[in-house]
Amino acid sequence: MEWKIPLSDIDFGPEEQMAVDEVLQSKWLTMGSVTQELETAFSAYVGAKHALAVTNATAALHLACVVTGLKPGDEAIVPSLTFVATANAVRYTGAVPIFADIIGENDLTISYKSIERAITGRTRAILVMHYGGYPCDMPSILELAREHKLKVIEDAAHAVGSDLDGRKLGTWGDIGCFSFFSNKNMTTGEGGMIVTDNDDYSQRLQLLRSHGMTSLTWDRHKGHAWSYDVVGLGYNYRIDEIRAALGKIQLGKLAANNERRRHLTQTYRDALQELVPQITVPFARHAGISAAHLMPVLLPPGAERTSFMESMKAQMIQTSIHYPPIHTFSAYKAVGDNPSLLPNTEDIGAREVTLPLYPAMSDEDVFTVAQAIAHALIPV
Ligand SMILES: Cc1ncc(COP(=O)(O)O)c(C=O)c1O
Repeated sequence: MEWKIPLSDIDFGPEEQMAVDEVLQSKWLTMGSVTQELETAFSAYVGAKHALAVTNATAALHLACVVTGLKPGDEAIVPSLTFVATANAVRYTGAVPIFADIIGENDLTISYKSIERAITGRTRAILVMHYGGYPCDMPSILELAREHKLKVIEDAAHAVGSDLDGRKLGTWGDIGCFSFFSNKNMTTGEGGMIVTDNDDYSQRLQLLRSHGMTSLTWDRHKGHAWSYDVVGLGYNYRIDEIRAALGKIQLGKLAANNERRRHLTQTYRDALQELVPQITVPFARHAGISAAHLMPVLLPPGAERTSFMESMKAQMIQTSIHYPPIHTFSAYKAVGDNPSLLPNTEDIGAREVTLPLYPAMSDEDVFTVAQAIAHALIPV
């Protein structure tokens, strides 16, 4: 399908090409000095003591669940309105994800009141997801976690570069997990980062990322080690130097690209307010501090979403849904909470549509999308 305006687009140029060429010429492809440089730059950027690059954010979330101690019989509270990886990560450990509701129309992040209601004697952790790059209510959630002695893991897949009260998202909880998947604000194709201030977690994460081995191929190449022990059941969640090189360049572009995303988001708000005021645009409160990864809008109650998206497609504008709630998936039917406790998730899950948003979009593209929405909503 040739879209006039696609949902997302990446900002890749000769800089990325050159960085990859350099790695290829160096002939060192597995995790090494370029990965270390990316980790150092990333930890400085977000203000975390430790940053470890990994295969993807799903791996990051899994490792976060392992090192914070989730195990069979435990429960972890997660939003249902998120990508399935947030809840899958809990299940990989044998623990059970318990779904909490979102705040409402103006804020699609997890509600701390709903979290509070879901806490039982088996709850060990809260996984929050900063929807579209917009912050969860971290002060209230951390307070609740302290009160009940729960770990907090941030799924910051959408939120690279977002702030809350001057502190980067991903550094509020015990561990933060970022995605560099191909549609994210900074991308390496597949890739991710895990950040923490906790030295013990960081040491264990390093081991678990690479089979539980006490030294890496890179250490042996550098002459720092001859052999290794295996001290735990680890995984191969390593990133490679090609992706790390892409990550370094993308990180350098992030601040400007996030600024452009915020500008486009505001342009959308103004255009939609003028042309189609019956459309709800959530997150007005945090518009200025978000990485603005997604442009979610809510159709008026009763509007037929599939026909709306078909009409947008006929106008060659790509739209998407974030997300079909996890508790509605077949693989989750027998897991977690009673859907009647998730009224906001059910309502918004049925009305949400995601509009195109990427730094290379023009202001005119935004008006084209707003006009297409006005057209798509005209009753036939
Ligand atoms: C909210 C959220 N969590 C987790 C992930 C998983 O990220 P990855 O594809 O890097 O494993 C994604 C990816 O789309 C996501 O959007």
